[in-house]
Amino acid sequence: MTQRILLTGGAGYIGSHTYAALVEAGYEVVILDNFSNSARDVPDRLELLLDRKIKVIEGDVLDRAMLDRVFAKHDFDAVVHFAASKAVGESVKEPLAYMQNNIGGLVTLMQAMQAAGVFRLVFSSSASVYGNNAQLPIAETAERSYGNPYGHTKLVCEQIIEQTLASDPRWAVGVLRYFNPVGAHPSGLIGEDPAGVPDNLMPYIAKVAGGELPCISIFGDDYPTPDGTGVRDYIHVCDLADGHVLSLRSLFHEGKGHVVNLGTGRGYSVLEVISAYAQASGRDIPYLVAPRRPGDAAATYANPALAKEMLGFSARFDLGDMCRSSWEWVSTQAQSADA
Ligand code: NAD
Ligand code: UFG
Repeated sequence: MTQRILLTGGAGYIGSHTYAALVEAGYEVVILDNFSNSARDVPDRLELLLDRKIKVIEGDVLDRAMLDRVFAKHDFDAVVHFAASKAVGESVKEPLAYMQNNIGGLVTLMQAMQAAGVFRLVFSSSASVYGNNAQLPIAETAERSYGNPYGHTKLVCEQIIEQTLASDPRWAVGVLRYFNPVGAHPSGLIGEDPAGVPDNLMPYIAKVAGGELPCISIFGDDYPTPDGTGVRDYIHVCDLADGHVLSLRSLFHEGKGHVVNLGTGRGYSVLEVISAYAQASGRDIPYLVAPRRPGDAAATYANPALAKEMLGFSARFDLGDMCRSSWEWVSTQAQSADA
């Protein structure tokens, strides 16, 4: 029997790629999104990509009455919860808005799920719950901390999930701690589309390659890393999407939850990413060295062993694939804007 999944935040960057992966895996999926951080044409693009009608509900996960109506109508078997605010810098300026959306959103959703008798949940957590001083490669057993209000919301959400699980054995929750998702779907139809000047490395480099921004600032070249620049575990968004399919499968088959890293286990420096992107795009990527960005870790990368053991997950794509797919997406977007 086809299992029915509610995808909150399904019009967003990771949500839209996961939508495609879930549909391809045979699930019946409904998107719930308030479009606060996603483009209105994402459902149309998904329809084009998958050649089928997409079910989208426009709504806010903080709206309990709406959630109750949605659960009453659809008979979902599980929920994948992406909907949240994710900009670290903005969270420092507006901590209360982040607490409300990220923590309030999870609590409201879990209350509605409980009332509707839906107890399977996949939750988007983040490597930010490890703070900046975890031992490398970072295992799930590392102590948790946070360095900014956004990271704090993810840590509190994990604790809320743990306390809810302890109170009611019917819950089965997959907590997925993403490292650095980048890249885009190979179709060129969906990808990351940040409004304004991007905060994150790869979307910024993409705009430099496309000529929209003049150069990339490298935030520090004096870290204790092989070339002095920051090291991160970049993971292709399509690999990440597949991780959600495996997480759901495990919830359905094992009947119990898991807390796992989703990363490749390999770190790349800022200079390595710039060089890979230059090669993928055939463009020069001018850069300059700027001071360290406050709050940044020198290096983070996952120990991916537990996700492999528990879910059978391992990343398929390498840094070249990530850069090529990003460039494909960015150049397709630029062509359609010119047309
Ligand atoms: P995104 O902003 O592209 O997607 C989030 C989606 O949720 C957007 O479509 C937005 O409109 C929607 N949304 C936000 N608040 C909502 C609300 N109250 N009700 C309904 N819809 C709402 O972000 P993303 O990169 O796809 O991230 C998805 C999830 O993964 C988030 O929970 C984020 O914190 C987490 N995460 C992201 C990263 C990353 O680097 N992108 C890393 C770790 C964890
Ligand atoms: N960097 C630059 N120049 C830039 C942007 C970034 O040198 O213009 C460097 C950073 O200093 C860091 C690396 O590139 O060394 C990656 O930075 P990102 O901003 O792309 O990503 P972060 O690792 O800082 O954080 C991201 C998300 C967080 C999430 C974390 C772990 O923004 O929300 O990954 O998943 F928590």
